[in-house]
Amino acid sequence: MLLATIYTKSSEFIALQNSLHGRTKLTMSLTGIGMWRTDPNPVGGIHFAPNPYCYRCPLGKKYPECDLECANKIETVIQTSTSGKPAALIAEPIQGNAGIVVPPKNYFKRVKEILKKYGALLIADEVQTGFARTGKMFAIENFDVVPDIMSVAKALGNGQPISAFISTAEIADTYTRAGASTLGGNPVSSTAGLAVLDYIAEKNLMANAKERGDQLKNGLLELQKKYSVIGDVRGIGLMIGAEFVNADKSPAPQLLDKVLEELKDMGFIIGKGGVGRNVMAFQPPLVITAQNVDDVLNAIDFVLAKV
Ligand SMILES: Cc1ncc(COP(=O)(O)O)c(C=O)c1O
Repeated sequence: MLLATIYTKSSEFIALQNSLHGRTKLTMSLTGIGMWRTDPNPVGGIHFAPNPYCYRCPLGKKYPECDLECANKIETVIQTSTSGKPAALIAEPIQGNAGIVVPPKNYFKRVKEILKKYGALLIADEVQTGFARTGKMFAIENFDVVPDIMSVAKALGNGQPISAFISTAEIADTYTRAGASTLGGNPVSSTAGLAVLDYIAEKNLMANAKERGDQLKNGLLELQKKYSVIGDVRGIGLMIGAEFVNADKSPAPQLLDKVLEELKDMGFIIGKGGVGRNVMAFQPPLVITAQNVDDVLNAIDFVLAKV
């Protein structure tokens, strides 16, 4: 955010509803999920646009007839809520805590076009999506768009604490003042990060994420035919969500809790997300095997039949 401000000389930002960008003062203010906004006095100059959540479109539209109205609304936000020159829009290529919300294929292209018109940057928050999870090194590559800045963390260290940002030379070179950081450039974390990158390449984990992700998604789609509580299955690679719903499509968080507890007792720990806390969120280790995926699918089948 600082780099975008230095480069554009603007300090206004746009984020998406249902986003999650962190727990620091600024990144929490960029977060669009009420339960994670625990700051009683959020930072100003941040504006929110509707998220591309086709299963529950915040604009009540249907894709593709909507002509990406959620993306088009970003222009309305720029025109009506900012000075007209925001620094950047920050977005997760696939929203994680929102419940694995995958935008339509052409969404980010439209977003980039709009931002370019106003001299604003696109920041891709790849903290959850980055480093092979979606079958590509970075999830934004699935949308054929090159962001101006990316933030990365989690998978880079495979458990070691490390985070980083990536940008173009043109943008990064505007940051000319001295900088220092207590933990920045930590040699142990950096060595771990480099080793992780080697391991991802050597073991071809991008291919594994795609193959095992397809297997998991297809298996969940089969279960959806059998159990109407699975309202939607979505995701790319090994970042998949299954949304649990009641007969009227309202969120079914209690049922999901029950299913997750049963699965935990059988040895399967699966994530939970979504604003309605009703999305089973799969983001397993990238080394997961075909047998592991079969086992979890069988376990879900067993538990759903029981509950
Ligand atoms: C998409 C995304 N961005 C950023 C963060 C960084 O959060 P933190 O402030 O906990 O490092 C997270 C953490 O969960 C995240 O999921």
